[in-house]
Order: sequence, then structure tokens, then C-alpha cells
Amino acid sequence: MTLIFSNIDSELEKAAILLREGKLVAFGTETVYGLGADATNAQAVQRIYQAKGRPNYNPLIIHFAEIEDVFKHVQKTELAFQLANHFWPGPLTLILQKRAESPVCSIATAGLSTMAVRIPAVTEARKIIALSQKPIAAPSANPSGKVSPSTAQHVIEGLNGKIDAIIDSGPCKVGVESTILDISGAVPCLLRPGGLSIEDLRPYCGKIESHSPINNATIRSPGQLSSHYAPSLPIRLNCHEVFDDEALLAFGRSSLQAKLSRNLSFSGDLNEAAQNLFATLRFLDSEGRRIGLKRIAVMPIPDTGIGLAICDRLQRAAAPRPL
Ligand code: TXA
Ligand code: MG
Repeated sequence: MTLIFSNIDSELEKAAILLREGKLVAFGTETVYGLGADATNAQAVQRIYQAKGRPNYNPLIIHFAEIEDVFKHVQKTELAFQLANHFWPGPLTLILQKRAESPVCSIATAGLSTMAVRIPAVTEARKIIALSQKPIAAPSANPSGKVSPSTAQHVIEGLNGKIDAIIDSGPCKVGVESTILDISGAVPCLLRPGGLSIEDLRPYCGKIESHSPINNATIRSPGQLSSHYAPSLPIRLNCHEVFDDEALLAFGRSSLQAKLSRNLSFSGDLNEAAQNLFATLRFLDSEGRRIGLKRIAVMPIPDTGIGLAICDRLQRAAAPRPL
């Protein structure tokens, strides 16, 4: 049975106890809901992979409440320290060399010598991490390959019965996952565009390489498989027309007509579009299927700022799927 907690202190305490006991607790962050477990408990982490149906070569992000806790587990470089101080808590994940003495179990990091670390901006998320007194491994709280969850209801739809508890902290404010920046090597490398824009990172990093699988064939992050974030209906991108059997995902001012349509942001605001993205994809998918539509047509969306993350998620949702 999956317990549903509100975000009041007494419920957060119960959730922290569950985490300490090796249980799986989903919680809201500013990006998407995460599925948390004690990262030092191999059995608990194994249950994350099972609940999500996630391949075990795909490592997890380890979440912390305080900057000083992070650097007990990963090497502290000058750049890491600067980025941490500027952007945490917030939608940035850093890849750094793991410290030999870190008790984070090797299945959480898929046996890599590096570790992905982040401090989420939602106060309640940091509270349960602090109360648990553990580093918390937390991938997005959705079945592997499916659309990420931006509300507690989305988590229930995908994982009810497979996890121990969910803390409902309302809809996620950013709406797309964290930006993943690998700073474990000589040149900072963007592994996943996300909630923090590359324009914001540039003043600190100088040159940033990109290894996002969409524009680059090399996959540096094992989880960057191209078909991902996939609703059941196929997606058609950059559409300037809509066919009869298609639902429409619009952005900004549009004169396109469709049997079923939703606009990510009528005013063309990319932050609002990111916030609405996953809930809107889920809605068009389920409602579209219910009324017999065959595809989702997506209008062009600018790839600047957080738009880069929106375009990345849509391109991966549209990518060819394994049979
Ligand atoms: O916003 C987020 O980042 C959310 C919230 C819950 O924090 N989490 C999230 O986790 O999106 P997940 O598991 O869905 O995506 C994590 C990505 C995966 O693509 C994984 O391959 C990559 O991070 N990753 C984790 N550790 C890595 C490492 N050491 N090196 C390279 N990539 C890594
Ligand atoms: Mg995910």
C-alpha cells in the first residue's frame, strides 16, 4: 500500500523514518517529483530500480539538504564550490568524482567513479532529507521511459502500490528536470538541459561542451537513451498544420484548430510552458486516445533558456521507440 502524506512537519517526520527504514518515499522538488531511498542502503536502492523498471546501468542523482554534506561524498573543486553557492538549492545537478570514503552504495552510482549530486529547492524536500540524516537517491518518480511526474497524482498513476509513501507538496514550479553538468573532467559538459539555463551557467564555466544525445551521437550519461518521456501516442514536432486525427500541443499565439488542443503558454512564456509541459502531454495523451486520435502535433518552440530543455524532452518523446 502507498501512504499519502501532506507536507506538514509531523508527516515529514514519518516520511523520514520510512526512509531510514529503507522504504521508498516519493516527494516533490521544484523540477519533478523524485522517488527517494537511502542511498547508503543497497537493498533500498535496488527497490527503486525495480519499482521504476529502470535498467541498473543507469545511475541515480543523490540529493542532499546542505552544501557541506555534498562535499563529504564528492571531490570539492573550485568550480563545484562556486556553482553550488550560486545555484543551490536549485535545478542543477553536478557530476563530480566520488570520494572513496563515501558510503553511497555502488548500485546507486551504477559502479561509476563519479556521482551526480543536487540540493532541491523545495523546503519540505530538504526537510525530509535532513531529518533522515542520509544522502537520498532519487530519480524522477515515474516508470522508466514514461513522462515525468509534476504532481503527486502523476506519481500515483505510475507507481501506486509499488512504493511506500508519497508526500504531496503540490505541483512542481519549474516542471522539467534539473540541468546536468559534468564537471568531473577538464571541460564542463552539459549532459542534460534542464531547469537552469545554459546562459545562466556560462559566466561561471566559460566553454561548455554539449553531450545531449539529441545533438550529439556520443552518450556520456548512461540514462540519456533517446526514446524517453514517451506518452502512448506518437509525437510529431515543429508542426504548422494539424491533421484530423491529431491532438495539438500549441505554444504562444496560434490560429491552428484541432479536435483537442492545449496551449503551453498563450503569452509565449517559456517558464510557464515548462511548468505545464508534462501535465499537458499526459492530458493530450489520455484524452486523445479516449476520443480516438492517433498522434500529438507540437508547434515549434524556441530553444533558448529553459526552451532548450522543453525541446529536448519533446524530441526524446518523439524519438523512435524500441519495438
Ligand atoms: O530534476 C531532477 O534531476 C530529478 C529530481 C527528482 O531531482 N531527478 C531526475 O533523475 O531527473 P533521473 O534519474 O530521472 O535522471 C538522472 C539522470 C540520468 O539520465 C542518469 O543517467 C544521470 O542523471 N546520471 C546520474 N549519475 C550520473 C553520473 N555519475 N554520470 C553521468 N550521468 C549520471
Ligand atoms: Mg527520469
